[in-house]
Amino acid sequence: MRTSHSVAVALGAGIQLAAAAPVCGGGSTSDTLWVTTYPIGEGSGELITLKLEGSTLENVAQSETCGPYPSWLTQADDVLYCVNEAWGGDHGDLAALQINDDLSFTKLSGGETIGGPVSTVVYGNGGRGLAVADYGAGGIDTFNIEDPKAITLIKSLKYPIPEDATENPQDIARPHEAILDPTGDFLVFPDLGADLLRVLKVDKETLEYTETESHVLTRGTGPRHGAFFTSGDSTFFYVVCELANLLQGFSVTYAEDGLTFTQIYSANTHGEADALPEAVAAAEIFLAPNSNFLTLSSRYENALEYTVANGTVVPSDPLITFSIDATSGELTHVQTAPAGGANPRHFSFNSDGSRVASALQADGRVVIFERDTATGKIGNVVAEVDVAGMPNFVSFKQ
Ligand SMILES: *[C@@H]1O[C@H](CO)[C@@H](O)[C@H](O)[C@H]1NC(C)=O
Repeated sequence: MRTSHSVAVALGAGIQLAAAAPVCGGGSTSDTLWVTTYPIGEGSGELITLKLEGSTLENVAQSETCGPYPSWLTQADDVLYCVNEAWGGDHGDLAALQINDDLSFTKLSGGETIGGPVSTVVYGNGGRGLAVADYGAGGIDTFNIEDPKAITLIKSLKYPIPEDATENPQDIARPHEAILDPTGDFLVFPDLGADLLRVLKVDKETLEYTETESHVLTRGTGPRHGAFFTSGDSTFFYVVCELANLLQGFSVTYAEDGLTFTQIYSANTHGEADALPEAVAAAEIFLAPNSNFLTLSSRYENALEYTVANGTVVPSDPLITFSIDATSGELTHVQTAPAGGANPRHFSFNSDGSRVASALQADGRVVIFERDTATGKIGNVVAEVDVAGMPNFVSFKQ
């Protein structure tokens, strides 16, 4: 194991050094990871399998099985659902890929989405439904995945595009993530373009849905990704807003016909009051497994440093961790740690939360860190690997 000598160099107070003390890892954890990449230039993005052995992380398989612009993966049993964002096209693609014993993939079936898919989530009884957030086209698709060999489109919902819409992402609806609420009755889509939390009530049996009232955010916030947290009878929802670089928290109440979001927390993505520089763009947020720790990623800050395996020090964006007060839902900043380089579009925890893997889109690197499940702090580097193209997603095999 290597120590990352990570130093905060800017962005003022509130930034802490990465934990220097050794962190206990272990527990049940997969040493196989899935990665997708966007291409650089004319090439094709890849679906990549990484294998961790000791402190060596290696690319053991790579293919274009999922199309040229893979952007998100959802694993369900031994099937990986991969979306192709299909930049510049008039639709997107969803592929159901069998994970073979040798970790190669066989495409079982596929379907078309309305365009620019960036996130998927399984829903419905028996995990028979898959919902897709189509950022590019501004809509949502649902698929029946009961038979992965024959997935079928249930419904495509495209929000109206104003005639005077420009390239400005906020001119149309931009659902950026598909999230299932803890009861499985509602799908929530942060909509970066419309500044809404869109909510669909699902029929778990038929996989059909009805649109319910959206929660309206301040114009210009750009909600991107979110995470639920439950404690006793309380449900909280946290959303990172890419455009305003805000982290907002809500207490959620349930009614037969929808969800009510009552704001309980709002700060910048570092947990402070000040606005962050305009170039900064918050990206991902997850609740660590079986915990009350939230971690988010922020891009285009380059305010931290990370020492790559060959000893070179490179600028790094942060992974920022907060603890959630289980009673009030209030957040407390815990740590600002280097993500391992520039543009951490995505990261994932392993199943027991003892590790976090980060995809550095601008650096072509994937880094695995130790994580202390008791303190929520990200610690030493376990391993890193360079991958071709721009890694935009990483997750541990289930
Ligand atoms: C070390 O790694 C960095 C980042 O990947 C790279 O830019 C640099 O060329 C490498 N240096 C050497 C000497 O290999």
